[in-house]
Amino acid sequence: MPTINFSNPQFKDKTVYAVAGSHTETVLKIAKENKIPVQFECEDGECGSCVIRVTNVDQQKSPMGYHLTEKEKTVLRELGKLSKDDLEALIVNDLPSEWRLACQFIPRDEDILVEY
Ligand code: FES
Repeated sequence: MPTINFSNPQFKDKTVYAVAGSHTETVLKIAKENKIPVQFECEDGECGSCVIRVTNVDQQKSPMGYHLTEKEKTVLRELGKLSKDDLEALIVNDLPSEWRLACQFIPRDEDILVEY
């Protein structure tokens, strides 16, 4: 079963098990269900308050996840988390971004670290 390790220097780290193969639950929804204090406002990929950094627990791999949504591309650019060049490189190389919006990011069946 895939695990999500939530980490924030102000709170105790917490590991939760994601439902394998659900492919519908966002990281924000999983955090809320587990009372993990990930910040959020709009829950619709507009405000950027839920920005997170996602890495694969297995350092050899990059997270599979789903690719950035159009909303994420816009907001992450506005927040300065991704430059135009970063974005183009991700698209050209077909890679997922480590910066995501918790309300948009749906994890896949892999163990990930979520820094919030
Ligand atoms: S809560 Fe607003 S972008 Fe995620």
